[in-house]
Amino acid sequence: MASMYESVVKPLLFRLDAERAHELTLRAAALAGRSKTVRGVTRRAFSVEHERLRTNVAGMSLANPLGLAAGFDKNARAIQIMGSMGFGHIEVGSISAFPSTGNPRPRLFRLPKDHAVAVAYGVPNEGAEAIAPRVHRPEHARLGVNLVKTNDVRRPAVEPDVYEDYARSFELLQPRADYVTLNMSCPNSAGDRDFFDELPRVAALLDELSAVAPCVPVFLKLKPIGDAGVLREIVRIADDFPFVAGFAINLPAGKPSELRLSTPPGELAAKPGAVGGPPVETLVNHVLKTLRRTIGPTSRYALTAAGGVTSADAAYRKISLGADLVQLYTGLIYRGPRLVPTILDGLLRRLDAEGHDTVSAAIGTHVDS
Ligand SMILES: Cc1cc2nc3c(=O)[nH]c(=O)nc-3n(C[C@H](O)[C@H](O)[C@H](O)COP(=O)(O)O)c2cc1C
Repeated sequence: MASMYESVVKPLLFRLDAERAHELTLRAAALAGRSKTVRGVTRRAFSVEHERLRTNVAGMSLANPLGLAAGFDKNARAIQIMGSMGFGHIEVGSISAFPSTGNPRPRLFRLPKDHAVAVAYGVPNEGAEAIAPRVHRPEHARLGVNLVKTNDVRRPAVEPDVYEDYARSFELLQPRADYVTLNMSCPNSAGDRDFFDELPRVAALLDELSAVAPCVPVFLKLKPIGDAGVLREIVRIADDFPFVAGFAINLPAGKPSELRLSTPPGELAAKPGAVGGPPVETLVNHVLKTLRRTIGPTSRYALTAAGGVTSADAAYRKISLGADLVQLYTGLIYRGPRLVPTILDGLLRRLDAEGHDTVSAAIGTHVDS
């Protein structure tokens, strides 16, 4: 049965430009989050509490493994309501040391035939200093802050400026977060995207962060690299930095042929940017599996995976391929907030069907198949 969002709200939002629709949604979410009553009602409507879903990742106890991916709430305006929506964690950002206007508009497009979006934002955000006072851990979910280098032609990606940029926002924001993700691979910041392809720079960044004494777990959000040798090298670099708690996987840049999109090429050409949603699932899952095999089942590293999680089965696939945490964004655009309890209820059913007591027991069970 279609939810209220799908039958009433979505048709109205889909008449608007995609970014405008998102801005209105965020404004409504920020407003709703101010009321304790609305937060309570939201929580009762969307949360699925069950011990079998509870999980421990990077020293954090979470109500469930499902999270809101970075990009939905770039400026940390809707933390309180999104934290009441049933997610085990929410990730705000990407946030950079200095404000950035991002790429010119239009820069967010729907691909309805694929239930997907094309995103070419280029990490616009108000900058760490302006955003920090709004960053407060929500009551019921863990809070991640996603950091990125400032996207500004006046601040080109050169050493050591890039490292100082991350360190500056890290210092300001880590006291307010449960964990920090370093977005090292924004697919839409043309000048910066490939900076960390030179792997010694990963070590240089982590060295710079060591100087600001990280006291929360840090995740590295990597390009979707399929090459096991490169992944092994990145993991080996991280081994020297005990604060690195895990890895996450970003969207691929552009429209690689593996995506097998149903949207016609003419329409795609008019909608630049990286694709989020079901078309990226297979590609990301392949990287996830390779990364899990690289780090092994019991290493200190946790894996966070997003990309095409629009059902419990898709979430379970990621968990069984080695994800400790799964995140979503595009699914919310097409299915609305009911998607969260739908996935969590479905995960419980999958655990029954697969004979696992807890969600943690299912992690990595299909890595070798
Ligand atoms: C509109 C949009 C904006 C995004 N912005 C960011 C961002 O600022 N930082 C980041 O690390 N990832 C960003 N992402 C990537 C998501 O965090 C996530 O990795 C990706 O969308 C895959 O999940 P999905 O298929 O459920 O959307 C963005 C994705 C979308 C769709």
